[in-house]
Amino acid sequence: MFKVYVSFKDQQITLQSEENKVLLDLLRENEIDIPAPCGGKSKCGKCIVQVLSGKLNDVAAHEKDVLGKERINAGYRLSCMTKVLGDCSIIVPDFSNEATIMTDLSGVEFSGNGIVNKFTINLGKPNVHDQASDLERIQDKYGKCLFENNMRFLNQLPSLLRQSDFKVEMIFIDGMPADIPDQDSKKDYFGIAIDIGTTTVAVYLYDFVSKNPIDHVSFLNPQKPFGADVISRIDSCIQSEENLKRQSELVILHVNNAIGTLCKNNGVSTNDIYTMAFVGNTTMMHLFMGISPVNIASSPFIPVTVAMHRLKPSDLGITINPNGLIYALPCISGYVGADTVGAVYATGMHKNNKITVMCDIGTNGEIVLGNRDQLYTCSTAAGPAFEGANIKCGIGGVAGAIDKVKIDTDVVYTTIGNKKPTGICGSGIVDVIAEMLDEGIIDYTGRIVDQDELDETVPTAVADRIINFSGDNAFLVESASKTGTKEDIIITQKDVRELQNAKAAIAAGILILIKASGYTFDDIDAFYLAGGFGNYLKVSAACKIGLIPKELESKVKNAGNAAGAGALLFISSEDSVREVEDIKNKTEYIELSTNPDFSNQYIDCMFF
Ligand code: FES
Repeated sequence: MFKVYVSFKDQQITLQSEENKVLLDLLRENEIDIPAPCGGKSKCGKCIVQVLSGKLNDVAAHEKDVLGKERINAGYRLSCMTKVLGDCSIIVPDFSNEATIMTDLSGVEFSGNGIVNKFTINLGKPNVHDQASDLERIQDKYGKCLFENNMRFLNQLPSLLRQSDFKVEMIFIDGMPADIPDQDSKKDYFGIAIDIGTTTVAVYLYDFVSKNPIDHVSFLNPQKPFGADVISRIDSCIQSEENLKRQSELVILHVNNAIGTLCKNNGVSTNDIYTMAFVGNTTMMHLFMGISPVNIASSPFIPVTVAMHRLKPSDLGITINPNGLIYALPCISGYVGADTVGAVYATGMHKNNKITVMCDIGTNGEIVLGNRDQLYTCSTAAGPAFEGANIKCGIGGVAGAIDKVKIDTDVVYTTIGNKKPTGICGSGIVDVIAEMLDEGIIDYTGRIVDQDELDETVPTAVADRIINFSGDNAFLVESASKTGTKEDIIITQKDVRELQNAKAAIAAGILILIKASGYTFDDIDAFYLAGGFGNYLKVSAACKIGLIPKELESKVKNAGNAAGAGALLFISSEDSVREVEDIKNKTEYIELSTNPDFSNQYIDCMFF
């Protein structure tokens, strides 16, 4: 065993490592936060550590290409390509930079009775003419009880009933008796709604008495070291069952911590939380339930389950009232998950007479089109470009990310948190490419032109930003002297191609769905943009690059975190189980990989 001394977030940690251990694996196992968007496949170049001393394998040629001479000379390595061969000392950069996490509920209103209710019920005292058991006394009146197989609770039932002379306050969940709260428990009772995104997780606390979400917390998905997208996370499960277990444990642990924080901040006991609903893409749903998602990764893309599940808190190890009930909202297919069902529920498009479209853009774009009679959905693989991955200077929506760009007499931009720029996030990439198109810096095929091809109206300060990078043209957004990383922030020709692929995938998905439904652009009343990226996207720029069809530009509405709002609405309504099942039943899934029109449409949409 060797010692690996790690400096991380102002801490010094000593890890034990066997010989030839891959550094990324060692860091993951010890819960050290390190990004690995490609899941350790040496493609993304983001899993950087700085080696101060020690024995490690030699730097590979590929690492030199990815990191560049200067960083290699400064001791930087890709942790997924670095093996421990002796004692060593490394610095892991702090990547826990506050991400802007989308928790906006966008004007969603909560009213009516929730899925959990508390009533005082009179069971009537037993006598020799009425010798029904304590449990039967409740079942006879209210049917199935959620606690009927909970021996610990049944053991307490006689005293609970007799203390109150058989007139008890009873918690009902979805109409089923669930619990008799302690006499000293709070008047209010609560629920939790969770949106488990591949990148971020949002946890909301809902008060059933005031009928309002009263607080929320959000955090970066702790599965991040296993890859940025669902395919990398699934790949890691294929590599070892331990990775599946670890990913599942990590997210449960962080959700329990979030529930603990919400309880502490709001003076709530976990015992007063009676329900939880969670949504996520199909892979996140599987991982949260500890189910293997491996067959989702390859054709024919089969999940273990897409059903709505009602689970006991102990099934998942979630710390709410043990007599509570947890709802996993249903999915539609391997790539249209419960987050999409939640988003449909939140927008109300399943009850609308008019035709609406909902689009959630991430590494996959989920698109739903339809109305109260029928919904059509598809999922299209956009890749991670919109999340800043596979882009030379791409970063997530963190402080210091360039998020808005305008080209006028020169380039002007804003950054998240007004910090020195450290990279460019998805909305910034869409903006800058739309602006480059406007200036003729990119032609309709996506080629970054030479300076002498520019129109003479393009200011010299802008034209001079076309530079050479690795033999191709690139566009300098900000020079090294003004960035937080002391490196140029540029858009390369390869970045433009990545964005073309991503936008073509989404645009083609929208067009295929419109065609499959038989509707036209004119029939569409509203186009909801859901999710974090959609919220920060400038609609005119998205239409300029062809991510959203121009014909829909005036119909675009922001739906905020529609998936999270859907999970909250689910617990806030007593009709939710029926409604969500109705959404699932009326949704027709369109598989794009076998759709004869998709590849032609995709190629058409590649152009600007
Ligand atoms: S390059 Fe190492 S995880 Fe992507």
